[in-house]
Amino acid sequence: MGLSLLLCLLLLPTCLQADSSEECNLNPDYRQIDQPKHLSAPIGGSVHINFSFYYCWELAKNSRVSVALRRTQFHGEFIYNSTWPFIHKDYKNRISLNLPKGQKSGSLKISNLRKEDENMYFCRVQVETREDGKKVWQARQGTKLTITHAAMTTTEGPTSTAPTTTGPSALEGNGSSASSPLSVGPVVVAALAGALIKIAILGLILYLRWKRSK
Ligand SMILES: *[C@@H]1O[C@H](CO)[C@@H](O)[C@H](O)[C@H]1NC(C)=O
Ligand SMILES: *[C@@H]1O[C@H](CO)[C@@H](O)[C@H](O)[C@H]1NC(C)=O
Ligand SMILES: *[C@@H]1O[C@H](CO)[C@@H](O)[C@H](O)[C@H]1NC(C)=O
Repeated sequence: MGLSLLLCLLLLPTCLQADSSEECNLNPDYRQIDQPKHLSAPIGGSVHINFSFYYCWELAKNSRVSVALRRTQFHGEFIYNSTWPFIHKDYKNRISLNLPKGQKSGSLKISNLRKEDENMYFCRVQVETREDGKKVWQARQGTKLTITHAAMTTTEGPTSTAPTTTGPSALEGNGSSASSPLSVGPVVVAALAGALIKIAILGLILYLRWKRSK
């Protein structure tokens, strides 16, 4: 254990991997969905709500992943379900899912955006496990989508310092890009915290052994 800890500290990337499998050892029911905290896109443009998910279960053969989207709040109305497939009338022909087979990350695209689309959006995923039937879980923190006015109307006022420069597509990619450096932080902190706990436990074990051998 001490050796693996040392290796872990030396090779931080492998440590991060070891950490998520360890998460599964601690809690076989561990599951998670990540999605950006905040996105913004202009009226008439489109937005990708990118998500990635994790779980520990072994999947059934030919397990189908079902993805759903809720709006407003955690228990809010369903506006999309890839299984039926279902799209709420407010979003008719405007929501599409991109989730390559076997991948654990994909995106839900809302296109032809309207001002009324400004809302919170919560991703929900369901998989079929080998031993425990269907499992469904949902992101606790949704994505807050802000709808901006079309780029041309924003030239009024002293907003020239805004980083958004040209066209709808530039706006689209950039709202969410801010969330990626943020999401790396907690992972590293969690890994370090995990390492610290391991050191503490190791120390305790050694101490108890030493005490007993006296
Ligand atoms: C989608 O709908 C099906 C059928 O109602 C349901 O079983 C499944 O849990 C839904 N998917 C998600 C991710 O909620
Ligand atoms: C988003 O901003 C980055 C710089 O922060 C820039 O390199 C990139 O081209 C922008 N994305 C789009 C889609 O314009
Ligand atoms: C979201 O996913 C799409 C592919 O589905 C990708 O092209 C795009 O770069 C992703 N955006 C961010 C901000 O990660």
